[in-house]
Amino acid sequence: MKSSNYRENVEAVQGLFQNGRVHRDAYISDEIFDIEMERLFGRAWLYVGHESQVPSTGDYITTTLAGTPVIMIRDADETVRVVVNRCAHKGAQLVFEDKGNAGRMLRCPYHAWSYKFNGALLAVSLKSGYENTGFRESEASNGLTVPGGVEVYRGFVFARLSQTGQSFVDYFGDVLSALDNMADRSPTGRLRVGKSCIRSVIRCNWKMYLENINDTVHPISTHESASATARSVGEHFAQTDPTALEQLLPFGSGYDFYTKMGARTLPNGHSILGTRFSIHSEYSDVPGYKDQLAAAHGPERAAEVLQYAPQNVVFYPSLATKGSPQVIRVLRPLAVNLTQLEVWAFQPEGAPDTMLKRGETYSRLVFSPMSVVAHDDVHLFESQQRALASAGNPWVNLQRQARADEPENSDQSFDDGNNELVMRNQYVAWRSLMTTPVTGE
Ligand code: FES
Ligand SMILES: [Fe+2]
Repeated sequence: MKSSNYRENVEAVQGLFQNGRVHRDAYISDEIFDIEMERLFGRAWLYVGHESQVPSTGDYITTTLAGTPVIMIRDADETVRVVVNRCAHKGAQLVFEDKGNAGRMLRCPYHAWSYKFNGALLAVSLKSGYENTGFRESEASNGLTVPGGVEVYRGFVFARLSQTGQSFVDYFGDVLSALDNMADRSPTGRLRVGKSCIRSVIRCNWKMYLENINDTVHPISTHESASATARSVGEHFAQTDPTALEQLLPFGSGYDFYTKMGARTLPNGHSILGTRFSIHSEYSDVPGYKDQLAAAHGPERAAEVLQYAPQNVVFYPSLATKGSPQVIRVLRPLAVNLTQLEVWAFQPEGAPDTMLKRGETYSRLVFSPMSVVAHDDVHLFESQQRALASAGNPWVNLQRQARADEPENSDQSFDDGNNELVMRNQYVAWRSLMTTPVTGE
């Protein structure tokens, strides 16, 4: 991919999103991807994991944030910490497993420097050799701290890589209410993550996936065969797995269904699709669950929680949630044309076990790359990625219902879920961060 020197040319980056269209370089330029990692993912609050993945002191999981390896670990005082998985001495990785228990400290396997779980340097080998060397003022003495900080909201753990950027609450604003809704689906207000996630790598740019999360026009055509299959084997499903049937049939909903579902954009690229109803609104009741929730939260809050079932809530740029059926998707971009997807289902603590089963069934049927739904999407995303690199029209069009005087980066609610404003809103945030160089860059 030839470089356009986007790093030096803010106006050229600005021009990649204009008049409701996105230039193909946003999806295929390596240089743009590198700038995204620094200016966008570096300053955004990114989803790390859920606190229930690390229940006991020393329990950890490893993952990456914008290419930076990190460890999420439970400290002795029960606080969940996030630190970089990169030794402050010479950069060796501290732990190599997906998950485990670190014991009482994090110890580097290379020269045995050790760290507290909050990332502070605990001890170095041959300590006396560092006296009067200026070591205390060095970067190494900062340990493993993630500069932007860590926030845990209702059990969901986020971190920010860069010291600059908005505070957690300012960055997410009211979209956090979707996490309240999800946590309050438990009588105790706590969720527990399922035993494992579905992890896959898709050969497309991360933005294609994230856009599609708000694309209501595609299911009727893209997933025509999935809903047709569900209909044709409906009788069999109804006997064996009614959950599967009620989850798959709505994929055949027509364009009209989405015109009334309601949507909301929020500043910084976040959105809620299906503020009134969605394909998840008609799931059958789980016996006893409503009463449990009413006893715990009061009948009003319980009804409010259960009635609110958006299709997708986007926590730009790394997380999308479905309150019902308690499933989240996490995007971790690996390269300009490579995106890792994780799908996690949750059990609301204290609720019937069928709640987790519902989420796991949904994940398997709809989000697994082997499912009857996701392979249709993935096939098309990968074709977009290949075709956009070829000559011809350089623009991706997101102009449906665009208005010249459309307010940008604002909290707006509207009826029609087919309005591509929910996608344009992502690019408004993208353009804003991408055209603001990181201090010192
Ligand atoms: S690289 Fe970790 S102690 Fe040397
Ligand atoms: Fe889809």
